Amino acid sequence: MDIQRIGIVGCGLMGAGIAQVSAEAGYAVVSKEVDEAFLAKGLARITAQWDKAMAKGKRSAEEVAAFRARLQGSTSWSDLASCDLIIEAVPERLELKLATFAELEKVARPGALLCSNTSSLPITQLGAVLSPGRHAGLAGLHFFNPVPAMPLVEIIRTLATSPTTVQHLRDFIAKVNKTPVLAPDAPGFIVNRLLVPYLLDAARCAEQRLASTEDLDHGMKLGCGHPMGPLHLCDFIGLDTMANVADVMFAAYGEPRFSCPSLVRQMVAAGRLGRKSGMGFYRWEGEQRLEAMPL
Ligand SMILES: NC(=O)c1ccc[n+]([C@@H]2O[C@H](COP(=O)([O-])OP(=O)(O)OC[C@H]3O[C@@H](n4cnc5c(N)ncnc54)[C@H](O)[C@@H]3O)[C@@H](O)[C@H]2O)c1
Repeated sequence: MDIQRIGIVGCGLMGAGIAQVSAEAGYAVVSKEVDEAFLAKGLARITAQWDKAMAKGKRSAEEVAAFRARLQGSTSWSDLASCDLIIEAVPERLELKLATFAELEKVARPGALLCSNTSSLPITQLGAVLSPGRHAGLAGLHFFNPVPAMPLVEIIRTLATSPTTVQHLRDFIAKVNKTPVLAPDAPGFIVNRLLVPYLLDAARCAEQRLASTEDLDHGMKLGCGHPMGPLHLCDFIGLDTMANVADVMFAAYGEPRFSCPSLVRQMVAAGRLGRKSGMGFYRWEGEQRLEAMPL
């Protein structure tokens, strides 16, 4: 099978990034959202990136016109029927993911590859709503945030994922100019299994007033050579996503290091979701990080 048409369910932080890099790599892309308002917001996120690249002289007007022409927005499941590879990037909640795969079961063409960008949910569990014939084409395809900048994609293989599927995904990842690693189908895969406890610990340190938000971030950035501090990274990922991922991993492993600190839950309840809501550990104006917010 030659992958030509990619369907992406969800045009939020991750879905928009995956749609962007896929269209840039030459694929025809269908980006599916819940309604016109979310779709417009998601597509605007992508076109803003292309406008910025054009303004900086990194992309020509012709290139950007070709990218736009390859990107189709939709609010209808049936528009995914002709896709060769469908990647879901809906919020990290099991019931939403299962409902998504149940819809894909109905509309995806036979033999289409079905992937999840989940950060923590077992792919095998997501496949429970698929018919047996679809399991060979089911895998995890875990991109990192921000998708256009981050070079890694984890491929998560279940016991049923076929070697041909893995090879097709390797080819796709190479075409979007990224590097794959093969990860186990266990919550958190490789990277989040190690990263999430570190980020949750940083939030616990902030909760216990170990140091100021800025000093915690500066400490890890300058002391360990990380590109950004852990609380800054939590804002970047989204506190709601962090809480959902922590809950899945805590349920799976039962270890306190995966438990979600109450500070994170309070922030989510208060709408402090990080960069995407303009408030988290820091105040944000679009992509610009402003001062730390009181805790
Ligand atoms: N945020 C990160 O740093 C990050 C990194 C890697 C993986 N992930 C994973 O990627 C997935 C998406 O996360 P995100 O940060 O992009 O979330 P997000 O909240 O920014 O975007 C999710 C989008 O999905 C849409 N959606 C919900 N139900 C839908 C449906 N039925 N059909 C179409 N669209 C639907 C929502 O409207 C929303 O725009 C999650 O599984 C998350 O764990 C996130």
